[in-house]
Amino acid sequence: MKLIVTGGAGFIGSNFIRMILTSARPYKVLNYDKLTYAGNPENLRDVERRSGYDFIKADICDTARVRRTVSSFKPDAIINFAAETHVDRSILGAADFVKTDVFGTHALLEAVKEFKVPRYIQISTDEVYGSTEKGSFTETSSLVPNSPYAASKAAGDLLCRSYFVTYGLPAIVTRSSNNYGPCQYPEKVIPLFITNALEGSSLPLYGDGKNVRDWIYVEDNCRAVELVLRRGRPGEIYNIGGGSEVENRFLAREILELLDKPASLIKKVCDRPGHDRRYSLNSSKIKKLGFSPSTDFGDGLRKTVEWYRDNPVWWKKLKNADFKSYCRRQYGSRRKGGAAKL
Ligand code: NAD
Ligand code: DAU
Repeated sequence: MKLIVTGGAGFIGSNFIRMILTSARPYKVLNYDKLTYAGNPENLRDVERRSGYDFIKADICDTARVRRTVSSFKPDAIINFAAETHVDRSILGAADFVKTDVFGTHALLEAVKEFKVPRYIQISTDEVYGSTEKGSFTETSSLVPNSPYAASKAAGDLLCRSYFVTYGLPAIVTRSSNNYGPCQYPEKVIPLFITNALEGSSLPLYGDGKNVRDWIYVEDNCRAVELVLRRGRPGEIYNIGGGSEVENRFLAREILELLDKPASLIKKVCDRPGHDRRYSLNSSKIKKLGFSPSTDFGDGLRKTVEWYRDNPVWWKKLKNADFKSYCRRQYGSRRKGGAAKL
């Protein structure tokens, strides 16, 4: 099966490509990635020389390049992981989010329509549902996105629905919960907290720390996406939850315990504007397709902490001058009572 994987140099995309290139099934993959600050060729060093893998540095918003690539590669499917993905950055400025997550998705859908690609998978997110204090979202729950990131993802997600209904385009949408694991860019909470703790810096906990996220180990999400690729039905949406709802303050304490660091490293900082309180997914639909997560949160967090502890070269390069300048903009205005030293 020939796949174009967009955003394959990022966190989930690279874990997905590694999984399929090392699987028994005969996949060929073209990784189409712009290599933004979040795209990192190091993520695929161990598999990039395998036969069946190719890479092009390109933007999904470049419609001419998308058309040329789809027309010459003739994929059996496109899986779109490419996106601007960090909520805090979308609050600082939303333009790139609207471009990539909406216009980029549109460019891909147009190419799928024109060149009659047999399958298209849009990697959406549970954030499109917004926040809920009680119960869990099903695939038919209303979309109430709260951050510019979530709104841009909801727009891309709904474009897929409209292309299925209007043109019969074979689009399938997955909405997963928070992923964690190796190769996640250290702006996201788990790698940020782990790498800060390893550096002896503080862990900036937003608000009261009682916000809840449902964590899924990245390899579990990748298995679910591959299952959807093979067995999902066009026009359908699949929630992919980890079934591990955890408060941020508990997460911070767990990370510090695993690293044998003091709880005094946790520093409360001002809250994220519009901070969603809780995400929770009902995943019975994907379970019926044959999926269940296999890594429990305790094991997954331990493996993740070990990976960052054992790969300092990978993350130290990323915590560079640009990252520090982002942190100054991001956390500078949030300090409360001598908080986060970043
Ligand atoms: P990431 O930020 O780690 O990687 C994004 C990748 O997309 C990078 O390699 C980047 O270079 C590439 N990219 C960005 N703009 C591009 C463009 N215009 N053209 C081509 N490539 C571009 O993201 P991630 O965490 O791996 O997320 C992957 C997908 O999964 C995203 O669509 C995201 O919305 C979705 N998602 C993520 C999570 C999560 O917890 N990380 C949960 C649910 C859904
Ligand atoms: O739910 C899926 C989404 O999960 C994905 O669609 C997004 O791409 C991904 O970034 C993630 O969004 P979150 O906003 O949930 O992830 P983040 O790691 O930024 O934050 C997780 C929680 O931790 C959230 O409640 C905010 C809190 N947090 C985050 C940071 C960066 C802190 O307390 N301190 C921090 O410094």
